[in-house]
Amino acid sequence: MSRIDIRCKVELPVAIMANNNGGKGITELQAKFSSLSLSGGFIDYDQPYQENKILGLKYDLPKHGEFEILGEVTRSEKNGFATKFYNLNRDAKLKLWDYIKENMEEDLTCPYCGKENSTKRRNCEECNWGLNYYSQDYIVEHEKESFIKRLAAKSNFFSIEDMYKVLNFIDVQVLGIGKNLDINEEFVGSSQGLLNVFSMIRKVAPTDIPVLITGESGTGKELTAMAIHERSQRKNKACVTINCAAIPDNLIEAELFGHEKGSFTGAYATKIGKFEYADGGSIFLDEIGELSTALQSKLLRFLEDKIVEKVGSNGGKKVNVRLIAATNRDLKSAIAKGTFRKDLFYRLDVFNINLPPVREREEDKVILARYFLNKFSKEMNVSKTYTMEAIDAIKSFDWPGNVREIINKVRRAVVMSKDSAITPVDLGLNVPVMQTDVMTSLKEVRYSIEKQKLIEALRYCNNNISKVARVLGISRPSVYSLRKKYNI
Ligand SMILES: Nc1ncnc2c1ncn2[C@@H]1O[C@H](COP(=O)(O)OP(=O)(O)OP(=O)(O)O)[C@@H](O)[C@H]1O
Ligand SMILES: [Mg+2]
Repeated sequence: MSRIDIRCKVELPVAIMANNNGGKGITELQAKFSSLSLSGGFIDYDQPYQENKILGLKYDLPKHGEFEILGEVTRSEKNGFATKFYNLNRDAKLKLWDYIKENMEEDLTCPYCGKENSTKRRNCEECNWGLNYYSQDYIVEHEKESFIKRLAAKSNFFSIEDMYKVLNFIDVQVLGIGKNLDINEEFVGSSQGLLNVFSMIRKVAPTDIPVLITGESGTGKELTAMAIHERSQRKNKACVTINCAAIPDNLIEAELFGHEKGSFTGAYATKIGKFEYADGGSIFLDEIGELSTALQSKLLRFLEDKIVEKVGSNGGKKVNVRLIAATNRDLKSAIAKGTFRKDLFYRLDVFNINLPPVREREEDKVILARYFLNKFSKEMNVSKTYTMEAIDAIKSFDWPGNVREIINKVRRAVVMSKDSAITPVDLGLNVPVMQTDVMTSLKEVRYSIEKQKLIEALRYCNNNISKVARVLGISRPSVYSLRKKYNI
């Protein structure tokens, strides 16, 4: 492995300042650097120092003056120790570099990898590091090269999550890429799960790749679909949403593909279908898991050739649409049960974005609750805050209805709370604490509560689905899928 800094042999006196053992003050000891680079040096000294010890180092560079910097002991040997410099400011770095240049052995050997180059070169024949030490830009180029090498060396210790964190940090904080895209303005939260979603939106939006968005009800699937369209080259064209669960089966074909006048009873005029309307833009197929098998075949045919054939016509028209689909169903188990076509799944699932449920985004719970409290307080021109108990209740609740449930509970609390402090009761979160020993499994508990609430809501709303959706704080399609799930 090559070095990432040029090292030169020197004999430079240095004063080492360290806390003395009794901790009573600082002692100053005289030693000397026997080698130096921009990132550290080796100090000859007859007593060993503990690794990681931080020392003050004071040295006088001939012709450049006195410097005082911090160094950390990285390796201790019999005759001295290696130290890494901390926070060398630009001026100190440039002067140190001048000094290193003056003391460098001038030959054709690459100081980074040791290769004997055949002639004087700008870059080493072997490792390609820049060797043009006397150019004005050398130090800037060198810093860039060594930065990349340091990152590459450390990347072996990164997990995929760490890499995303680094990339997100570079994109958003350093390059400001995310800022232009405003994703953070629509999506509230800072959990790693959500940051990964932002990163995927940014990556996939500019392409024409079909996207399948999965996740529980209320996690932000529709918001994600809109964010993708808004950040695509198709943003000035339509993004047509089709809710596969909301349109009756017998009408959905005409809705999607359009129909010719007189093609069926009630078709008084020729109508353009949603696919044709979305030409040049995007189609968002929401609740795709609810599509009947007959329509799944038609959709698949359309996806293969992108030709829309109106109901009752004998010709077709090619359209250019980007497909985004969403579902809260587990399509793989639907395939296993034979209710969803495998070939259609693979057409849709080219790029999958899975929205984690709120219970897996622990740190987002309070952030979201505070965000919506501010929002609704402003809208209603009131000033409200949460009590400590309310914050605890928000943190410990599972939020099965996800962000939508937070929105609804907070909105309700702003209206219901009698004074400016919002309590768990205002939020409807006075859930009795269960004994863990009587809990069979969280899944079972959630299952039975969800089912019970649905039965109660249906009864309370006289089976009016829109009302049920409002009361439970979920979408109408979600009510339909819950009814299917629990066979109610
Ligand atoms: N991270 C977030 N920050 C702010 N608002 C959010 C966030 N996620 C979702 N929302 C809001 O929560 C509500 C529900 O989100 P959305 O409709 O996108 O969920 P969904 O996954 O499509 O739900 P469903 O499966 O029930 O259709 C919307 O009002 C949306 O704007
Ligand atoms: Mg939705």
